[in-house]
Amino acid sequence: MVKDFLSFLDFSTEEIHKILNLAHELKTLQKKGLPHRWLRGKTQAMIFEKPSLRTKLTFQIGMFHLGGETIVMDMRLGERESVPDVAKNLERWVDLIVARTFSHNDLICLAQNAHIPVINALSDLLHPCQIMADIMTLQEHFKENIKDLLVVFVGDGNNVFHSWAESLIHFPIQLRLVCPEGYSGDTHLLSKIKEKVGNRLIITHDVHDGVKNADVIYTDVWASMGQEREQEKRSKIFAPYQVNEKLMSLAKPGAKFMHCLPAHRGMEVTSEVIDSPQSLVYDQAENRLHVQKAIMVTLLGYNPH
Ligand code: CP
Ligand code: NVA
Repeated sequence: MVKDFLSFLDFSTEEIHKILNLAHELKTLQKKGLPHRWLRGKTQAMIFEKPSLRTKLTFQIGMFHLGGETIVMDMRLGERESVPDVAKNLERWVDLIVARTFSHNDLICLAQNAHIPVINALSDLLHPCQIMADIMTLQEHFKENIKDLLVVFVGDGNNVFHSWAESLIHFPIQLRLVCPEGYSGDTHLLSKIKEKVGNRLIITHDVHDGVKNADVIYTDVWASMGQEREQEKRSKIFAPYQVNEKLMSLAKPGAKFMHCLPAHRGMEVTSEVIDSPQSLVYDQAENRLHVQKAIMVTLLGYNPH
């Protein structure tokens, strides 16, 4: 059966850990300048409905390192022809689809209609490739022992937070969302996860108590792509949730700071924090490359061992 990577629920815990191990191995190979052109002759089509720096570049560079080719399409799905027709055409030409969509349902529709793997490069609901890179980064900084780490996500219960929540199914960490009332994320998705992970997932609105004992403070933009019209309203509502030096001082001493980027400096995070030695943001960005290479290799069925 063709495997897709639309969410953390598409893989078993064992498979997710194998992908991460492969990502560490691919990083080492690349740093040593050793060849790993394991996807020679393969082609990926990338559909981007929204802007991107990190995701677009790292999938392209990753496929280049692996010896394959990339075709990038900036298009709106469903505008010129139906989503199933796009999928049924692409599967005749390419080996893999990487898609960033406004609607998560369009990703599901692509996956259901293409007999080739589809990777979620961000949707309105989820951003699993980001959290794979974030976990890889934590493994590097906490010596692979990420058990019981407390990650506190400060801000909007958005696509990035939803994927963090789903990651709890595979990783024994604790996750707390500290957000304004009314911004706690998708109730249906989160209640299903909570049934599985219990108190490892907590949602609170009290920023002072919420960040206590955090090993990691994570934040993201207050208005995601597609919510630009709410920017002004959200700036006021989220102002008490800004990650600044004062907020960082309430976490564990030496707590790490993470952000998926792009950041709005002076809004959800101050420059002092994002540029501080505690910040892991560029390691996260680098690891997008390695982890996505591992995901592509896995989905395309190449077994290096
Ligand atoms: N973090 C992330 O997905 O960045 P881009 O939007 O630039 O791809
Ligand atoms: N939540 C953000 C993440 C960007 C990488 C957005 O969807 O715009």
